[in-house]
Amino acid sequence: MSKPNVVITRRVPRPGLERVQEACNVHLWDSDEPIPRATLLEWVKGIDGLYCLLTERIDDELLDAAGPNLKVVSTISVGYDHIDVPACLRRGVAVGNTPGVLTDTTADLAVALLLATARRIPESIDAIRRGEWTTWKPEWMAGQDVYGSTVGIVGFGRIGYAVAKRLRGFDCRILYFDPFPNQKLADEVGAIYSPLDDLLAASDFVTLHTALTPETRHLMNAAAFAKMKPTAILINTSRGGVVDQDALYQALTTGQILAAGLDVTVPEPLPVDHPLLKLPNCVVLPHIASASVATRAKMAVIAAENLIAGVEGRPLPCPVTA
Ligand code: DGY
Repeated sequence: MSKPNVVITRRVPRPGLERVQEACNVHLWDSDEPIPRATLLEWVKGIDGLYCLLTERIDDELLDAAGPNLKVVSTISVGYDHIDVPACLRRGVAVGNTPGVLTDTTADLAVALLLATARRIPESIDAIRRGEWTTWKPEWMAGQDVYGSTVGIVGFGRIGYAVAKRLRGFDCRILYFDPFPNQKLADEVGAIYSPLDDLLAASDFVTLHTALTPETRHLMNAAAFAKMKPTAILINTSRGGVVDQDALYQALTTGQILAAGLDVTVPEPLPVDHPLLKLPNCVVLPHIASASVATRAKMAVIAAENLIAGVEGRPLPCPVTA
């Protein structure tokens, strides 16, 4: 029997690639840069399965181009806002993602970004490189304490929970907001449910861990920033679209909030001349929250298993259902 035909849209960690190659005929975009859209639309014609990244838009146009053989779209990410899931499911195309394995790696980075932003670490490094470290100065590069602070977690799923668990070690008071509060889980880490407005007003740090949906797009807008403390810091490791970046720029430049640490932006990459990159109180990372060698390899394998199950007509190990 001939093997199913699949497309992999980027160079992915070897354990995932090898697993797919055992079971499928692979057309690999063998590059670290994204496959051009026109090429992708050409390559997907008649394929059985698509292994994609969060940089590819999976919509009706692509599904039409692929045609009726397509059985599965497997993304090497937990987020799937780049995929029109209802459009896939309507056509009987299964969708898979990679939840779970990246939780702790992402939570580590969220806390690292929070600490780096609070304690002005990137700013300090830049200052040294510019030759501005002239002597020890009592107020130079003084930042905000994380220990004992109030941290508001927006989105209390796996990653929000893992962040709370870590911040307990800093003796933080943890508030959380989620449209589906899970107090049993929250009790394990001493997190207290708080309506969003109260959380914004009370928190020294607000950290975002929600999926990007129509409801959460620009959740952090001018009205939200107006509710925050002038000493507060925003951390975003979820999706750039959850934050209205123009409003954030205003908030950061008018002293409405103190600083922001962003692992995700709109667009990605952020152009080098983007106004946010010029602000000393805005730390921007290139969407690396899940980027440990081990975690990226695990994600690659789960995406492979989803793809293979899909092309073989079996239930996906990690299906996206809505
Ligand atoms: C995801 O998986 O959705 C992250 O944003 C990248 O790991």
